[in-house]
Amino acid sequence: MANIVILGAQWGDEGKGKVIDIFTQKVDYVVRYQGGNNAGHTVVIDDDEFILHLIPSGILHKRKICVIGNGVVVDPRALLDEISMLKKRGIKVDGRLLISESAHVIFPYHKRLDELKEQKRKKIGTTKKGIGPCYADKVARSGIRVADLLDEAVLKEKLTANLDEKNAILDKTYGAQGYSFDELYNEYRGYAEEIKKYVCNTTVVLNDAIKKRKKILFEGAQGTLLDVDHGTYPFVTSSNSTAGGASTGTGVGPTAIGKVIGVVKAYTTRVGEGPFPTEFTKDLMERIRRKGKEFGATTGRPRRCGHFDSVIVKHSIMVNGIDEIVVTKLDVLDDLDSIKICTAYKFEGKTYTDFPTNSRVLAGCEPVYEEVPGWKEDTTKVTSYLKLPKNAKNYLKRIQNLLKTRIVLISVGCERKQTFSKDA
Ligand code: GDP
Ligand code: IMO
Ligand code: MG
Repeated sequence: MANIVILGAQWGDEGKGKVIDIFTQKVDYVVRYQGGNNAGHTVVIDDDEFILHLIPSGILHKRKICVIGNGVVVDPRALLDEISMLKKRGIKVDGRLLISESAHVIFPYHKRLDELKEQKRKKIGTTKKGIGPCYADKVARSGIRVADLLDEAVLKEKLTANLDEKNAILDKTYGAQGYSFDELYNEYRGYAEEIKKYVCNTTVVLNDAIKKRKKILFEGAQGTLLDVDHGTYPFVTSSNSTAGGASTGTGVGPTAIGKVIGVVKAYTTRVGEGPFPTEFTKDLMERIRRKGKEFGATTGRPRRCGHFDSVIVKHSIMVNGIDEIVVTKLDVLDDLDSIKICTAYKFEGKTYTDFPTNSRVLAGCEPVYEEVPGWKEDTTKVTSYLKLPKNAKNYLKRIQNLLKTRIVLISVGCERKQTFSKDA
């Protein structure tokens, strides 16, 4: 099997955690390449539910090596909490978790600025984990990396410079309290001591592994429409969640990546603000939210839900070079009499079949729908494609035809066993 990227093809929460857990069996390394603890990836094993925010979902499989790549932003407090949660639940972490020394570190002022910016400007609806401000420092070349955290002298110098700037912004722009150097320095030196055993040059580790023909799974976080370049800007996250991010976020060249798998929810959801052309009206929203348990795995916020939108998924297939699709949460549509599929958008008399970049078009467009009959049967116990109700197969076939990309796997529940291949 080739090294693969598995990523979300919509606005996140497509069920990547579940799908990655299944594919982990076939690989040696699972690697996060972007984002931070804004992610919430759920894996259900028998009656146990795990929600992973920063640590790759592969950690639940014994003997797999999990890597937090250079493209990730790491909140050390959140990381240590996650490690201790896993250890308490019997998962061995030490010796299996590697953290890039080039990853950037989230500080409390990043979180505070994230919160304050949300109050002051037109809201994005962020997770308030400090992701945007931390990436902003990275690009502004003032960020503090894991390697800096481990070096007392460098940390002192960089934290001093950062606090000078951040405390002035907190005070002058927001009238908010600043941070004490001594407190932050001591807190973060403490974290450095605790995490240093996991830190290494993960780029070298991964490239050596590839030379030894070990297999790597790159775990996307967020979703394509939340990508800072290819998503619904500015209502996006601050990293490249698309397939290209797997390369820049790990230091593994694109020639070593053989396949990209897109995880696609059978309908659409998004959390936070921003355009959502196929968003349901109230009744259907509540029905599907309840049935699909559509509440954020990180913030608990209710997710906005909508009809399947082939315009955005086609855009995802293009910008990621998606080879194959996994459709999740088909079971959530079990009770519907009929199901709408969006095939295009209309705006001011013009029809758009390609995803429009102009935010005014996206915010004001009318979706063009076709409607297919529902199946009104419980699919959660179905174990093969052939046993799916005829109309469920027709729904999948129609999606596959619109997307012109092969569906390889279908998920009808959160458990591992509620998954089957399209070909079987
Ligand atoms: P991720 O961020 O893409 O990993 O997705 P989340 O974990 O945030 O959200 C997906 C939710 O749907 C989780 O609660 C999963 O347990 C659940 N889930 C995954 N696949 C299915 C499915 O096929 N059917 C149902 N009903 N739930 C699913
Ligand atoms: P997973 O990996 C869904 C959304 C936030 C907000 C926007 C920016 O579980 O699919 P941020 O805190 O990143 O600056 O917020 O991005 N967002 C997600 N939505 N799933 C996620 O991750 C998300 N991570 C961020 O709700 O709209
Ligand atoms: Mg999630």
